[in-house]
Amino acid sequence: MNIINFAHRGASAVCPENTMAAFRRSLELGATGIETDVQMSRDGRLVLIHDEELSRTTTGTGFIKDHTWGELQQLDAGSWFAPEFQGERLPLLEDLLELLQDRDTILNIELKNGVFLYPGMEEKVIALVRAYGLTERVVLSSFNHYSLAYCKSLAPEIRTGILYGEGLYRPWDYAATLHADALHAFHFAVLPEFVTEAAEHGVVYHPFTVNDPKRMAELIDAGVAGIITDHPDMLAGLLAARGV
Ligand code: G3P
Ligand code: MG
Repeated sequence: MNIINFAHRGASAVCPENTMAAFRRSLELGATGIETDVQMSRDGRLVLIHDEELSRTTTGTGFIKDHTWGELQQLDAGSWFAPEFQGERLPLLEDLLELLQDRDTILNIELKNGVFLYPGMEEKVIALVRAYGLTERVVLSSFNHYSLAYCKSLAPEIRTGILYGEGLYRPWDYAATLHADALHAFHFAVLPEFVTEAAEHGVVYHPFTVNDPKRMAELIDAGVAGIITDHPDMLAGLLAARGV
C-alpha cells in the first residue's frame, strides 16, 4: 500500500500556508495528499486558514467568524511570508476541491471547530465534498471529537481521523467508539507496536507534523499509512529511495 504523503497546509515550508500557491506547489513537490484547515466566515463560507484570527497570516485583524467573505477576500494572505507571494488570497474550500477534482490526491480537511464551534460547519463541508464527488478521497479530521462523531453520523461514507496530542490509551478502541478510520496523532505519540495493534483493529495512523527524515523513516518502518509534513519533497525522496 502506498504511504500517503500529506503536505501540511500545502507546501508550507516554501509557500504561505493554506494558499492556492502552497497547494499547487505541494503537488509539484510530490505530495500525494494535502492537509488543510477550515474556519467559517460570518456569512457561513468555508475559508482555508489555520488560526481563528487573521493577523498572523493575512493583512487583516480580528476573527474570521466576525468578517464576511466579501471582506475576507480583499485580504492579502501571501506577503507576510515573502514579497513574491504578495496578492495571494485566502482560498475557499471549493477552490481546493476544484484543484483536486481531476487528480487522485487525498485531501485531509481539518475542521477547526475546537475554539469556536461553528454550528453548521459539518453539514457544509460534507455537502461540498459530495458535490465535487470526492467522498472517497477525503479524510475529515478535528481535535473536536464530538464533531467527528457527528460527521460520521451525517456521512458514513467519508473517512474520519482523530486528532490528538499524546498519551491516548488504546486509541484504536477509542476510534471504534467514534467509528473513526484513522488516528491523526502527534508523531511522538506513535510507537511501532501501536501501529501494529491499531492495524489489527482496522485503524490506520497518519501522524503529524513530521519534518525530520530520520523520524519519517522510523514511522515508515512502523507501518503508518500516511505522514503529514511541511516537506513533501523530502518525504517523496525518502519513499522513492525505499521503493514504497
Ligand atoms: O492535521 C495535522 C495538524 O495540522 C494539526 O495541527 O495546528 O497544524 O492544524 P495544526
Ligand atoms: Mg491542521
